[in-house]
Amino acid sequence: MVSFLAPQVSVVGSIHMDFFILMDHLPVPGETVLGKSFTMQPGGKGANQAVAAARLGAKTYMVGRVGGDIFAEEVLNNFRRNGVDVSYVRRDLETHTGVAFIFVDSRGENMIAVAPGADARVSTHDVDSAIDVISSSDVLMLQLEIPIETVVYAAKVAWEHNVKVVLNPAPARTLPEEIYGYIHVLTPNRIEAQMLSGVRIESREDIVKAAHVLMDKGVENVVITLGAEGALLVSEEGVYHIPAFKVRPVDTTGAGDAFNAALAVAIAEGRSLREAVRLANAAAAIKITRVGAQAGLPYRRDLEEFLRDVR
Ligand code: RIB
Repeated sequence: MVSFLAPQVSVVGSIHMDFFILMDHLPVPGETVLGKSFTMQPGGKGANQAVAAARLGAKTYMVGRVGGDIFAEEVLNNFRRNGVDVSYVRRDLETHTGVAFIFVDSRGENMIAVAPGADARVSTHDVDSAIDVISSSDVLMLQLEIPIETVVYAAKVAWEHNVKVVLNPAPARTLPEEIYGYIHVLTPNRIEAQMLSGVRIESREDIVKAAHVLMDKGVENVVITLGAEGALLVSEEGVYHIPAFKVRPVDTTGAGDAFNAALAVAIAEGRSLREAVRLANAAAAIKITRVGAQAGLPYRRDLEEFLRDVR
């Protein structure tokens, strides 16, 4: 059943200022590469997912921290411009706003280094202070750029209030066993799926096996992202490969964030998981044709036009 009310999504996660340099090739250790252009844009996986969800039409709340520096006001204003509610973003004067240094080569591949700053101090108290909006949301989105105890706690709070949890386990790291039982959809890429499941992934069968290991741990559904090959949805109903849309990649930064946000918004709208993954593939495809993590995140109308054109 598709709801016609704006769905509500909360995001507990990271907030960054991203420093982008476009270059012909990525540096190797010890190498200095002369870049072609430089831009500074708001980013962070949590923030990107919140902005994407808002652009796709969800009432969106961000829960996180910014620092006591010049970037804080900039990223907060950016949230406001995009319609994200920042009532639960705390200004932490004892540290800096999270920053990411991102190199993008001529094929659209990237290298990212993050200094978390305020992200590293997002606490269970921050989750408690936002409990009203988290518990009234259709979906809670989580990633792994903030302390893991906060991620587990937020997932538990959401689960206790029957709020669906979408966990994007990026950047890759191991998870406490407790969290798996709280997750409605886990969205690892191949590497993350291998790390979390312990299954060495070399074939399609291995991916399915890894997903089943994660489901045995308590996850309801697993969506493994496969880059240019699309995504594999593994659920109680079966295994479905949902192909990617073919586009020419310019910058893959934030593609996972676009994917996760579209998936979460579609779930919040009451769509089936297969339909949600198709929309997520479309959002990611649009994103990779544009430079910048947030600059490239699609609005609802972009998604609808894109799907009309490919049809
Ligand atoms: O997913 C892309 C994001 O990862 C960037 O915006 C950067 O801030 C890092 O967190």
